[in-house]
Amino acid sequence: MRRPTYDLVTGLPDDDLPAYVYDLPALREHVRTIRAALPERVELLYAAKANSDPRVLRTLAAHVHGFEVASGGELGHVRAHAPDVPIAFGGPGKTRQELTRALDAGVERLHIESEHELLLLTTLLGDRTADVLLRVNLPVDVGQVALTMGGGPFGMDPAQLDRCLEVMASAPGVRLRGLHLHLASGLQAQPQLALVDKILTWAGNWAGHRGTNLTEVNIGGGMGVDYAHPPRVYDWAAFGAGLRRILTRHPGLTLRIEPGRSVTAYCGWYVTEVLDIKFSRGHAFAVLRGGTHHLRTPAAKQHDQPFEVIPDDVWLRPWNRPEVRDEPVTLVGQLCTPKDVLASRIMVERLRVGDRVAFAMAGAYAWNISHHAFLMHPHPTFHHLDDVAAPVTSTHAHQPS
Ligand SMILES: Cc1ncc(COP(=O)(O)O)c(C=O)c1O
Repeated sequence: MRRPTYDLVTGLPDDDLPAYVYDLPALREHVRTIRAALPERVELLYAAKANSDPRVLRTLAAHVHGFEVASGGELGHVRAHAPDVPIAFGGPGKTRQELTRALDAGVERLHIESEHELLLLTTLLGDRTADVLLRVNLPVDVGQVALTMGGGPFGMDPAQLDRCLEVMASAPGVRLRGLHLHLASGLQAQPQLALVDKILTWAGNWAGHRGTNLTEVNIGGGMGVDYAHPPRVYDWAAFGAGLRRILTRHPGLTLRIEPGRSVTAYCGWYVTEVLDIKFSRGHAFAVLRGGTHHLRTPAAKQHDQPFEVIPDDVWLRPWNRPEVRDEPVTLVGQLCTPKDVLASRIMVERLRVGDRVAFAMAGAYAWNISHHAFLMHPHPTFHHLDDVAAPVTSTHAHQPS
């Protein structure tokens, strides 16, 4: 944990716990590094679904080409907090209302998932235009990854693309900009480059056979985040260098990427305190304030959330302070379910009731994917570490603004 974040975390009053802390300078530096690694003709969009905290969006806005949104709700939210940033609207199962909102908002790109969706769009267009990417469910082997998107309900089989071309031939307001393929999540740079190479070769052939001028391919997000080894950050430099090589074989093509997790995961901390320590059938448990209803990431991804213990030496109770020393402990939350586990059997030097625990890598698919209402515990508070001029801002509201 960086020193300023540590100072903020230790300075939080007990009543503010559990708390989410977002390190915005660290986020800014990270996105600049990503941006600097990418060659010309690669545009970076941020997938807002990973974390749509308004301050996070505003921090990223100056450093990305645009935001990718996947619902009418995200569209309205992103427009409200970053009005000038270009928006790509994707997501399966778009409603008529969502498509209308996207057209009204003048989104920069629409990612079309099926022939039906395209036909629906043509009925809503009026005298407007829409720049679309057709999302393809390409059957390629993506190897061992955290999540495979291909082969599921996302996008269309390559065979259906021709039907879409026919629809567009009689709907001049719909302009085909290119293709979209988000096929996997959790890839490291080299396997992802191999996948990009396959995708672009296939896309080039596809367009060549149809005499279509392919100007843009969006290869989605999915850049890996290694929760078991936090310092092992996705190799953006290698990815950028590899893309530069690949793109020399595809002159005139713009490549878009829309990562989410790998952009914001590292800037977020979920901070709480130990309420109780107990030993059950020889195994140590630390019961924390909060739990997976605030931070569902470890339950969703079936991993141990990395954490730091922040000792609090003040103990004013007249009985012995419960503690665990030099043994593995399971960190659980307050929910009445054995699934409320944040980290399992992790060796600690010492953990006591009243110590603080700061879970790292809680900046993506964390608060916003959690089941907040279960058991009606209070929501966490939100705090943003910002630049020197305005070091810390806090809010107790459910959605910070
Ligand atoms: C179409 C699309 N683009 C981008 C993303 C972002 O992926 P990640 O957060 O793994 O980078 C997702 C995630 O589900 C997605 O479905």
